[in-house]
Amino acid sequence: MAVGGFAVDGGNVDGLGGRITLSVVVTCLVAATCGLIFGYDVGISGGVTTMGPFLKKFFPSVLRKAAEAKTNMYCIYDSQVLTAFTSSLYIAGLASSLLASRLTTAFGRRNIMVLGGCTFLAGAAINGGAANIAMLILGRILLGLGVGFTNQATPVYLSEMAPPKWRGAFNTGFQFFLGLGVVAANCINYGTAKISWGWRLSLGLAAAPAAIMTLGALLISDTPASLVERGRLTQAKQALLRVRGHDTDIEPELTELIRSSEIAKASKEEPFITIFERQYRPHLVMSILIPFFQQLTGINIIAFYAPVLFQSVGFGSNSALIAAIILGLVNLGSILVSTFVVDRCGRRFLFIEGGVQMFLSQVAVACVLAATTGVSGTERISKGYAILVLVLMCIYAAGFGWSWGPLSWLIPSEIFPMKIRPTGQSISVAVNFAVTFVLSQTFLTMLCHFKFGAFLFYASWIAVMTIFVVFFLPETKGVPLDSMHVVWERHWYWHRFVNKESY
Ligand code: BGC
Repeated sequence: MAVGGFAVDGGNVDGLGGRITLSVVVTCLVAATCGLIFGYDVGISGGVTTMGPFLKKFFPSVLRKAAEAKTNMYCIYDSQVLTAFTSSLYIAGLASSLLASRLTTAFGRRNIMVLGGCTFLAGAAINGGAANIAMLILGRILLGLGVGFTNQATPVYLSEMAPPKWRGAFNTGFQFFLGLGVVAANCINYGTAKISWGWRLSLGLAAAPAAIMTLGALLISDTPASLVERGRLTQAKQALLRVRGHDTDIEPELTELIRSSEIAKASKEEPFITIFERQYRPHLVMSILIPFFQQLTGINIIAFYAPVLFQSVGFGSNSALIAAIILGLVNLGSILVSTFVVDRCGRRFLFIEGGVQMFLSQVAVACVLAATTGVSGTERISKGYAILVLVLMCIYAAGFGWSWGPLSWLIPSEIFPMKIRPTGQSISVAVNFAVTFVLSQTFLTMLCHFKFGAFLFYASWIAVMTIFVVFFLPETKGVPLDSMHVVWERHWYWHRFVNKESY
């Protein structure tokens, strides 16, 4: 491809682990379950914060406001206090994801996944038993610290563990379990919404995915790269033999890992300074822009808006939750599409196809809403049109599910050299949380003021990010992590930043 895209096929890849063993599949599946806790929280919070008994106990003013005259359907849930509560998790997550780069380097990726699970578990217990708002906030901070750790450690774990040829597929497991957590949470909210103390159940049940992933993480070994980095050569060799197969010649991969680790150790510089060197500019730009763009696809506004929309056209809260579950299932199915396509057709293909699909469906949603609910949003739309909007949102969710959803975790975890890989992933997760925080703090107000225009706002960003991918994102499919510098060296724009001596 003329701009940006090419694959480093052949020689490099064939020599290094194209084989899928049962051990690597099981290990990566277990590791990917770490996505469950973030997904569960994303899915549970929206539902709980609209439950009457929960609002009555902790946020009575919000309940009073909601009962007052509803201006128009876009403004119903516009409450700063509630959004501040929900998004406090993202601030805690931001802090712990930055800290996690040091911890994963010193103690390994696996141990930080366990730490994240335990922290989240404690948060779930406190939230489920919350007697006052202080407990609720403390619980939320612990949940945030937990997902900060796991979101930083897991994608790196998966990328380092996977056979290079199928790294994309293995990495999508993280987003798959994240999506599964969202659907599970939506189903639980559907059941608990009918019980007066249902919110306790919803919040407390977060302990279940946390227990699953923590126990799972305790059973798997750390990645060979992390073991080599921490000087545990014998263990690294054993781990490599297990995941690549006992009859595989693991020497070339081990030699590469030792070489990368020596480079990492030789550099005495602080990784948070190294990453700002000119030669790492392309990597840094990606680790910031990819999560930034992911949030500007508007995925969270769509997920939130679907039940509100359906409720506002008189479907009742049950059907509204069903709409959310449908969207979640479409999203899950489409992540599996990504699993099968990402290493065959490449990351760029999925990003570009998904981008075009999301752009068109957002514009279509805006047009349908403008035509049916009127410019002020006060007219009710018919059931038929509401279903059309749901279908368009499903097309959008599918586009996200096979592009920006999984790939935003994959790209930052695979483009960095070992010495700054945890740092790059930390920055990426921190940017994800920071942008999610800002958007969730503002999107309900924006929806209230922009009305259907909010969808056009996100559509414009999707156009920008798709053009960015076309010109600036190199293809990374099949390239071993330790040879990744080649993709920048051959890129029409980024090659000018590369310093070959440092690899
Ligand atoms: C995003 C979240 C989003 C989730 C939805 C993740 O990749 O980072 O913001 O809520 O996908 O499935």
